[in-house]
Amino acid sequence: MCGIVGCILKENEDVAPILFDCISKLEYRGYDSIGLATFSDGKINIKKDKGKIIEVDKSLDLKDMPGSFGIAHVRWATHGDPSKLNAHPHVDEDNTVAVVHNGIIENYLEIKEELISEGHVFKSDTDTEVIAHLIEKFMDEGFDLEHAVRKTIGIIEGAYALAAISINEPDKIVATRKDSPLIVGLGENGYYLASDSPAILKYAKDIIYPEKGEIVIIDRDGVVVHDEFDNVVNKDIETINWTPEMAEKEGYDHFMIKEINEQATAVRNTLTQRENVQEIIDDIGDIQRICFVACGTSYHASLTGKYLMESLAGIPTDVILASEFKYSANTLNDKTLVIFISQSGETADSLKALDVANQTSKTLGIVNVAGSAITRRADYVIQTQAGPEIGVAATKTYVAQLTSIYLLAALVSENDELLNELDMVPDFIDETLKDVDYVMELSKRYNYARDFFYLGRGYSYPTALEGALKLKEISYIHGEGYAAGELKHGPLALIDEGIPVVVIIPPGDNYRKTMSNLEEVKSRGANVLAIGSKDDESLKAKANAVIGINPEVKEIIAPLVYIVPLQLIAYYITLEKGHDPDKPKNLAKCVTVE
Ligand code: F6R
Repeated sequence: MCGIVGCILKENEDVAPILFDCISKLEYRGYDSIGLATFSDGKINIKKDKGKIIEVDKSLDLKDMPGSFGIAHVRWATHGDPSKLNAHPHVDEDNTVAVVHNGIIENYLEIKEELISEGHVFKSDTDTEVIAHLIEKFMDEGFDLEHAVRKTIGIIEGAYALAAISINEPDKIVATRKDSPLIVGLGENGYYLASDSPAILKYAKDIIYPEKGEIVIIDRDGVVVHDEFDNVVNKDIETINWTPEMAEKEGYDHFMIKEINEQATAVRNTLTQRENVQEIIDDIGDIQRICFVACGTSYHASLTGKYLMESLAGIPTDVILASEFKYSANTLNDKTLVIFISQSGETADSLKALDVANQTSKTLGIVNVAGSAITRRADYVIQTQAGPEIGVAATKTYVAQLTSIYLLAALVSENDELLNELDMVPDFIDETLKDVDYVMELSKRYNYARDFFYLGRGYSYPTALEGALKLKEISYIHGEGYAAGELKHGPLALIDEGIPVVVIIPPGDNYRKTMSNLEEVKSRGANVLAIGSKDDESLKAKANAVIGINPEVKEIIAPLVYIVPLQLIAYYITLEKGHDPDKPKNLAKCVTVE
């Protein structure tokens, strides 16, 4: 949901090419507009417009701007259409202050009305513009940039990470945050601000994580962080172990397909967390109930967690959508472990739920981004080792989340057999990826469809939901995941001649019942694409097409492997339809608004 960047170079060189490079790495956070502001010769230069970065750069040449410090923004519109006027940076009427902002200012209308009555003139429909006017107003009253920002955050309500520059205080960027992410990078050639680390990996590895309400002041000499009483805060400096290459396409056409191909590594690396997971289990002690809380793909990983925890460890487990969590808060107690699953660690719905859970229960975050808000607020953290994920559709972070959940369940239930099976998963994933040509061919056969159904039972039910979500979010084809046994209770009415039904049917206890469901849809004319064992001759005879998986992949670990062809199908159908799988419309990678 929007990305911001700021940079001040130690030497007097043009910063625009670096700002452009950094903000381009955050395009997954918003891609309806882009804008840069730099400072030179006593004035603020701004280039901004609606459109993807590449389009705007082509018409405005964003890299060609004078000035050795500045700020930049990619937008995911919330208040006001994507347009040049609504694109950030925003300025006051005299162009003395420029601001970039990620988040939502909830009380902006009241503030705007008051500022208009004082004579301020607004140009955009955004909530952000009030920030520029407020800072200017306070600077006019005699406050310096830092204190004008502090006064401003005393007035605005909502979520924000913001950075501001002023013509009255050259060579300085002031930034702050509340409920939206912001990191500060200490690089060799300068100092950086960003919403997320991929933006600055190339330039800075040493990172400071500002807390809510702290004010960050960066100039050519370094970074100072002040608390609300103007005291200097001595922040820890943490080093990121991700490399810049990890956030590049490295020869792949899209991040999504690169990340699908990195899944074996993501699983392998996440399995190295075993000792950490065991320590957490030992420390947590007696737990009588587990609640998983998450959104979207992370919610589907959580559903698999329920099946594992209940069947292996016998611990009653609920899975609650983060946005609905507060309605269950009355049932929590200190014997409940609330597990938050999130690739970004910044999802607003999950953070709100975490604040609720922290009041009564022990909390554990399973998160991919180090230093993100969930990692700082949960009692315990397992960091999934997927590396940076840039494609908006979660793929490798999903299998890494699953891997952490499997580790947790296997260690809680002391299930060595499952631990051994997990070690084989990376090879199963790589083997499955070799069938890519066949999946491409199938994608050509199925891209006609307007609707898809995905069916699975038990462990394969969350896989069905996740397969359907992947398809709908990037190809814009309607995909519906169902528990296979539930179809006949209503949705079967929708099954028609030729409608594609993807059936996830690994060998195991649920095989026969799932096969009956497959036959139910087949006999009503569905075009059945089954994902099952390579050796399953009877499946080949019944389905219209089968993607074969190694027969050793049994039901219990199937979620980690059977999702791979479903991701590939979604990806290749999306290409067939001419859409960009990395940047689906209306979506952003990190959802920092409720
Ligand atoms: C779908 C997808 C989203 C996220 C959801 C939660 O591919 O990525 O559904 O899973 O927005 O995000 P995180 O995991 O960052 O909390």
